[in-house]
Amino acid sequence: MQLSLGVLLSAACAVTGASLWVPTTPQAPRPYALKKGDGLKLDGGSVFPVTGNSSGKAFCILNTNAGSSGGTTVFPHVHKRTYENFYTVKGRVQLWGQNLDSYLKNTSVQQTRILGPGDIGAIPYNTVHTFTLLEPDTLLTGVLVPGGFEEFFFNTNLSPNPVASSTDSETPDMAELAEWDVYPQLDFVPRQDVVNGRAGPGNWYDGANTLPSNMSAPIWVAKNYGPKFLNSENGRYQIINPLVTGQQTNNTFSQGTITLSPFTNGSSGKAPVIMSSVATALTVEEGQLEVTVQGYDPVELINGDLVFVPAKTPFSYAAKADFTKFMYVTGGGQGLDYQLMAKAGAWDSAFYPEEKPSSGRMFRI
Ligand SMILES: *[C@@H]1O[C@H](CO)[C@@H](O)[C@H](O)[C@H]1NC(C)=O
Ligand SMILES: *[C@@H]1O[C@H](CO)[C@@H](O)[C@H](O)[C@H]1NC(C)=O
Ligand SMILES: *[C@@H]1O[C@H](CO)[C@@H](O)[C@H](O)[C@H]1NC(C)=O
Ligand SMILES: *[C@@H]1O[C@H](CO)[C@@H](O)[C@H](O)[C@H]1NC(C)=O
Ligand SMILES: *[C@@H]1O[C@H](CO)[C@@H](O)[C@H](O)[C@H]1NC(C)=O
Repeated sequence: MQLSLGVLLSAACAVTGASLWVPTTPQAPRPYALKKGDGLKLDGGSVFPVTGNSSGKAFCILNTNAGSSGGTTVFPHVHKRTYENFYTVKGRVQLWGQNLDSYLKNTSVQQTRILGPGDIGAIPYNTVHTFTLLEPDTLLTGVLVPGGFEEFFFNTNLSPNPVASSTDSETPDMAELAEWDVYPQLDFVPRQDVVNGRAGPGNWYDGANTLPSNMSAPIWVAKNYGPKFLNSENGRYQIINPLVTGQQTNNTFSQGTITLSPFTNGSSGKAPVIMSSVATALTVEEGQLEVTVQGYDPVELINGDLVFVPAKTPFSYAAKADFTKFMYVTGGGQGLDYQLMAKAGAWDSAFYPEEKPSSGRMFRI
């Protein structure tokens, strides 16, 4: 075990001359890195840095950067086979959701949240949902699982971006939409009674956002109000903030953020090699991340840059700046986050130990 890890380490660190950077999303699975904004583009401001084709059907990542929808939304709808997460990177997005069966039986209460940067709403299968963008420069990252749902956007004239969508004035073709796993729920009336960023049951910025054990309602996690775990292995700190794990997705994927310290305590700085049985994608949000994938030269990622690593491909990563933070998506319940959390303890701060501001450093009035 030690030996094979050592071999992997040296393999992963070797300079190969092969570049991980690609100009656009590949059409077949391979390791790759994309600069902020690069990737397969769709008219209307959407970019797909990960697709079903590029991930071997694991997941699709869809970035929509647009202005306020001005109240326009896509029609409320359900996916029966696609799980969809809404993660706001900048600006604000309003998302509504309610489980279809309990909505039809009137045994649950509709929920809505205003999602600011770092907030997530997870829409499991069979959940009615609709959304709108609220600010002039909003960046919404959608994660759709399994990958391949994006074919809908490329093969119909409906846009995932409500600003570009003209659907609210047209009657949708139900039979055609069903072929793409889109089932309109035109009687669903999005509630308009938001107070302090939310309406409907559950905490938001006013308490702990716990993860449920099933998929019977939308899942909401406000930035830093969800569960947190501290991993202190290998002479560095990693705070794992799971947004959904395999438990909330029937083991189909996970998503969350990791806040990473540089190596501390004079550690020699050997990033451990990750071997995952599922695909992994990382998007940097703060700081600078060095990622090394076996067979490729290391890449340095900053804000908005993405790396995709297929299943069973050794890779490692290290923070090149203090408080480096990235969003991850993995193609199953036992990926990177699962491995890190298995060796971590519960943690109640957004800061890792050496980063925690002490009251002595604050101004007092
Ligand atoms: C995915 O690959 C298939 C087969 O090559 C192709 O027809 C399709 O257009 C690709 N989809 C996207 C979104 O690139
Ligand atoms: C749904 O349930 C709520 C509370 O249980 C009730 O006030 C409301 O009238 C019901 N709506 C319908 C359409 O039955
Ligand atoms: C789903 O989980 C929620 C919260 O964890 C719980 O209240 C509810 O009873 C569960 N529903 C089912 C059908 O298991
Ligand atoms: C660094 O050393 C301190 C003091 O020995 C220890 O508490 C801390 O856990 C170490 N940090 C890491 C990341 O190992
Ligand atoms: C969970 O996944 C298994 C197969 O992996 C499937 O048989 C089952 O129906 C799924 N459950 C739900 C609630 O989607």
